[in-house]
Amino acid sequence: MMERSFVMLKPDAVKRRLAGRIISRFEERGLQIVAVKMLQIPEELAMEHYQEHREKPFFTDLVSYITSAPVLAMVIEGRDCISLIRKMVGATNPAEADVGTIRGDFALETGRNIIHASDSPESAEREIKLFFDESEICTYEMPDREMIY
Ligand code: PPS
Repeated sequence: MMERSFVMLKPDAVKRRLAGRIISRFEERGLQIVAVKMLQIPEELAMEHYQEHREKPFFTDLVSYITSAPVLAMVIEGRDCISLIRKMVGATNPAEADVGTIRGDFALETGRNIIHASDSPESAEREIKLFFDESEICTYEMPDREMIY
């Protein structure tokens, strides 16, 4: 089933100039970037995005990290892409993430784990709506689509 996932390159990915290399992984896999924007997340939006973790001990650190510098927010489309992207991203704690995953290759600790990706269709829908208007999401043909699917 075709799905859309919300993916966010966190401040450390942007500041470490890893954005191009991470985006390339999704493109090379055959996924389609359909929306992208750079923004410095206001505190209220960060708290809304991570609302399910507001009682967790790390919530304040998480909000201050994610609002510390610009992020690159994206919508990525592809067949069953929500779980696929989570596999490509790797475990939350980069020290436990498999080599070959984005966190396993580029990060060392949870508080600097460089990327967020939706964990379910419901989260994806909610997160995409928080960051993008429908009019900001593009539709276009991939000329090599029949070679990928
Ligand atoms: S939980 O408790 O299992 O529900 O939490 P978890 O899924 O592991 O993490 C939820 C999000 O919080 C981030 N996180 C942290 N950020 C900063 N510092 C610390 N210590 C920390 N611990 C967890 C974690 O990366 C998750 O964010 P996303 O953006 O989804 O990766």
